[in-house]
Amino acid sequence: MSNDSKSIKVFAPATVANVVCGFDVLGFAVNTPGDEVIARFTDKKNVTLKAIHGDEGVLPLDPEKNTVSAVVINYLKRIGEENRGVEIELFKKMPVGSGMGSSAASTVAGLFAINTLYENRLDYKDLLLLAMEGERLACGQGHADNVSPAMLGGFVLIRSHHPLDVIKLSVPKQLVCSLIHPHIEVQTREARKIIRKQIPLKDAVVQWGNIAGFISGLYREDYDLIGRSMQDIIIEPVRSILIPDFYSLKQKALDSGAIGFGISGSGPAVFALSRDEQTAKKITKVIQQHFQSQDIDSDSYVSLINEEGPKVI
Ligand code: HSE
Repeated sequence: MSNDSKSIKVFAPATVANVVCGFDVLGFAVNTPGDEVIARFTDKKNVTLKAIHGDEGVLPLDPEKNTVSAVVINYLKRIGEENRGVEIELFKKMPVGSGMGSSAASTVAGLFAINTLYENRLDYKDLLLLAMEGERLACGQGHADNVSPAMLGGFVLIRSHHPLDVIKLSVPKQLVCSLIHPHIEVQTREARKIIRKQIPLKDAVVQWGNIAGFISGLYREDYDLIGRSMQDIIIEPVRSILIPDFYSLKQKALDSGAIGFGISGSGPAVFALSRDEQTAKKITKVIQQHFQSQDIDSDSYVSLINEEGPKVI
């Protein structure tokens, strides 16, 4: 097959950023949901977006404005192939603006696809820098805690954004994630604006303890330590007002066997970690029933931690 006729389809996973205590520095990937991207070389001299499926018409079709095509354009510039024709087709398999790393899944799938067509010309760090620019386009800030686990799989710590230093962490084998997406709107851009810009030292001390405790828990496979470290005294008290009855939901999840519960990314999705699939399913049911009692529809997903990241399908 000549290079010019190549076409590839890639899946990249949804992600849960922050993981309660690690605002902007912790995230993990799940097996389901995730987005898919087809990329193929064409005879034209630019990047085109052939179609977006499953977004209900909310995402821009302008290749410069859509995050997937925009990061592919930047990829081509980065490798000095800006006149290369590439056609992109995006299959949204998860809700947009959900807090489950929707834009990250699309951009990582797009970048992994184009990089595979170019026989891995760039390494994962370069791809992550390009993916972070996609996040900046999507929400105004180039945070790395969705794109990194979407790219690397598993749990990832962002030790530093500038320069980028990401560390893949251990994944305890029994962890199962419940993700519930209520059909309410929370924009990451807005959810970032309401956070306090300064915090008291005593709050920072609590937060540091929890982040360190959480990561120790991953390596020790200590589920109790993971659970008691899933506390956020800085961001959650502010953002929880965007999710109706958040603290009742949390209590119900913990009463149903969750080891921890919190906002997924900037919301409105919420997530729980538990030690088996049966408990995870029970939690999704209880949380969905609670949303339903408030006339809020929701989608739910139960999944092991995705350790693989993007893959050709
Ligand atoms: N860390 C980001 C935030 C994730 O909480 O704003 C957004 O999904």
